[in-house]
Amino acid sequence: MSSSDPQHGDGAASVQRLNPKVVAISVAAAVGGFLFGFDTSVINGAVDALSEEFTLGSGLTGFAVSSALVGSAVGAWFAGSLSSRYGRVKVMVIAATLFFVSALGSGLATGVWDLIAWRVLGGLGVGAASIIAPAYIAEVAPAKYRGRLGSLQQLSIVLGIFAALLSNAVLANVAGGASSTLWLGVPAWRWMFLIEAIPAVFYGVFALKLPESPRFLVANGKLDEASRVLYRFTGELDVNLKIEQIRSSLEREQRETLRDLLGNRFGLRPIVWVGILLAALQQLLGINVIFYYSTTLWQSVGFDESQAFLTSTITSVINILATIVAIVLVDRVGRRPMLLIGSGGTTISLAAMAFAFSFAEGSGEAVSLPDPWSTVALIGANAFVVFFATTWGPIMWVMLGEMFPNRIRASALAVAGATQWLANFLVSTTFPAMSQIGLTFSYSIYAVFAAISFVFVVRLLPETKGIELEDMDDLDVRGSRRAGPGS
Ligand code: GLC
Repeated sequence: MSSSDPQHGDGAASVQRLNPKVVAISVAAAVGGFLFGFDTSVINGAVDALSEEFTLGSGLTGFAVSSALVGSAVGAWFAGSLSSRYGRVKVMVIAATLFFVSALGSGLATGVWDLIAWRVLGGLGVGAASIIAPAYIAEVAPAKYRGRLGSLQQLSIVLGIFAALLSNAVLANVAGGASSTLWLGVPAWRWMFLIEAIPAVFYGVFALKLPESPRFLVANGKLDEASRVLYRFTGELDVNLKIEQIRSSLEREQRETLRDLLGNRFGLRPIVWVGILLAALQQLLGINVIFYYSTTLWQSVGFDESQAFLTSTITSVINILATIVAIVLVDRVGRRPMLLIGSGGTTISLAAMAFAFSFAEGSGEAVSLPDPWSTVALIGANAFVVFFATTWGPIMWVMLGEMFPNRIRASALAVAGATQWLANFLVSTTFPAMSQIGLTFSYSIYAVFAAISFVFVVRLLPETKGIELEDMDDLDVRGSRRAGPGS
């Protein structure tokens, strides 16, 4: 470390202030979340028009929609090792490039397999962005504000979902239908994809300006650069002390690299299993059935197309507002209490939806409800979104970014992130078939997973609020012998 490094060694390292620069770099990193939200939702508005253009059956249409999610699982998986080797920032630049290329390729696709290939490529970007922002933000944020700054990624995701909904509606409206020609003789559905190239460029430009994560820099022996980043961006009061803490946490875990994920008779360290379960359960609550199938869902309970669109828009706005509530609360209340409220609230609202849907099922018309019950279903669905968005939505991503020790963060996050995408794929691809059996059946299953998530938080999940990343190696599954702070 250079002697010119600023020293503020007054022993007050624990007094953390929020430097506006750390907010700015967290926001820039979170733009990946916007593309994640946009990319996963944009297909909804385009799907009917593209299946018409390429004359697709339902099987291939479904695959065109869900294939990107498999790409995301692969992207999350590889982003872990790439970010350990080349740094967090380079992975963001790669993700931005993938988004850009995929937007152009999908918009100009000449056939369905061509389109699927570009969507999978974009999926790789989504997966990479989904894990790199939580890791990066957790690594630059002061512990006291880590929850808030980490939740910015979820805020970006939900803004991205909303932007896709809105841009699809506007483009379809201006053209007079998603299949109708818009500018330059190109149909509206193609513009829905093409337009994503714009935020992709912003993300790439922002990423190129970001400083590298100080934890990555220390792990790679770049101590001068690490101390500069810590001093200029993170508001660290005692830079040298922090560097020492990072170094010793890396040394403590020296023998615990990649294979360090292996640790017990179940193959992985308990904390990695906890991360995997946390990620899978977030998806098994069925949130994306609301977002990916909302129009179909609401039309099936008797809403016409414009009412269904209005409902989806309102739900999306509620999602954004509730995420802001989470940002305010997460560092005050703590992760565990909020997740418990989320599990309880989602269990009740999902059960209410299942109950409401059951009133249509006797008739053989599985999904047409009398009005009062559509209202109950509607309220249930929006209550579910509120409970999810204030708790499990942001906190799962925040915790994945912070809960693993420094040395295994990237690889553990990759495993948990990939699991999250596979669970998303599982839920989204099984929903159409499950809803044939009945919406009550589908929502009862999600309600059971919500109840399981409650038990999971009570029994296994440690609290991470306020704990320094360097102390996360003391943290382990609740009730295990390595129980540390907050457990
Ligand atoms: C979370 C989920 C994502 C979902 C979103 C909805 O980010 O991980 O799958 O689409 O919330 O708000």
